[in-house]
Amino acid sequence: MKSPIPDYLKQVLEQVRPNDDGAPADYIETLANADTSKLAVALAMVDGQVYSSGDDSVEFSIQSISKAFVYAIAIEDAGLDAVLAKIGVEPSGDAFNKLSLERGSNRPMNPMINAGAITAHSLVVAPNATAEQRTERILDVLSRLAGRQLSVDEEVYEAELRDADRNMGIGYMLKAAGIIKCDPREAVKGYIRQCAINVNVRDLAMMSATLCNAGVHPLTNESIIPQASVRQVLSVMTTCGMYDAAGAWVSRIGIPAKSGVAGGIIGALPGQVGLATFSPRLDARGNSVRGVAICERLSSDMGLHMM
Ligand code: DON
Repeated sequence: MKSPIPDYLKQVLEQVRPNDDGAPADYIETLANADTSKLAVALAMVDGQVYSSGDDSVEFSIQSISKAFVYAIAIEDAGLDAVLAKIGVEPSGDAFNKLSLERGSNRPMNPMINAGAITAHSLVVAPNATAEQRTERILDVLSRLAGRQLSVDEEVYEAELRDADRNMGIGYMLKAAGIIKCDPREAVKGYIRQCAINVNVRDLAMMSATLCNAGVHPLTNESIIPQASVRQVLSVMTTCGMYDAAGAWVSRIGIPAKSGVAGGIIGALPGQVGLATFSPRLDARGNSVRGVAICERLSSDMGLHMM
């Protein structure tokens, strides 16, 4: 029997399409010029079945969605205790690009804000690793999660690097606070490179479904992320993944999630489904307007709210 899910996903896209609120990220030139008509959704079940609709093969940079996966890699490479000594787990309540260091410990509040993500990046492989070694490791894990070889969008990387004063400033503050040990420029360059990895919604849904499936890839059966790390990642996605809108997101949509400024969002409902959306226009917090609307519809229609 033909599955009704693709038709349903198409309907959901048509419902949110008229909403043209928000604007694409303007601080990275390539993203500012994004085609705002692009719209896509994908669902990946924990049995490996993927359903998608709209512009599901259009690639965009993963941006902050990478933070969730790089946090998992940092835990694997440095150990959870070492990661917790450097990065907190509390929502900052502030924008993603604020410094947000905890008073006393000087740790970035959580791994989903830039300060925490730059720190997590610096812990990948080893504190004295080169930026190349770190990005190679990240690209390898993200590719295995997606189930295909991913690559860096050099244009997005160069565009963000040209205008990276704020992240560079955060990198230097982290070094001065004793949180990162490597050259802050290298850590920030590597972080910007991880953000410039290209994906489509089907890749993201599969990456998310792997989180939902206790770190085991639903199609290849490879155990990519240990279960204890998955729990840690999904916990911080729940409390901090949507930045200063995390509380509203959890109460309305109720799924651990992470957004990126290119317009992607992932949602991960453990044991059930990984979802991904793409639409470049963002709200004031940096979350995709239509993406949030799609997730809200899916959550309410399919009863996905955790509570
Ligand atoms: O650090 C930055 O500014 C970007 N490369 C990533 C930010 C991001 O995706 C925040 N998301 N909503």
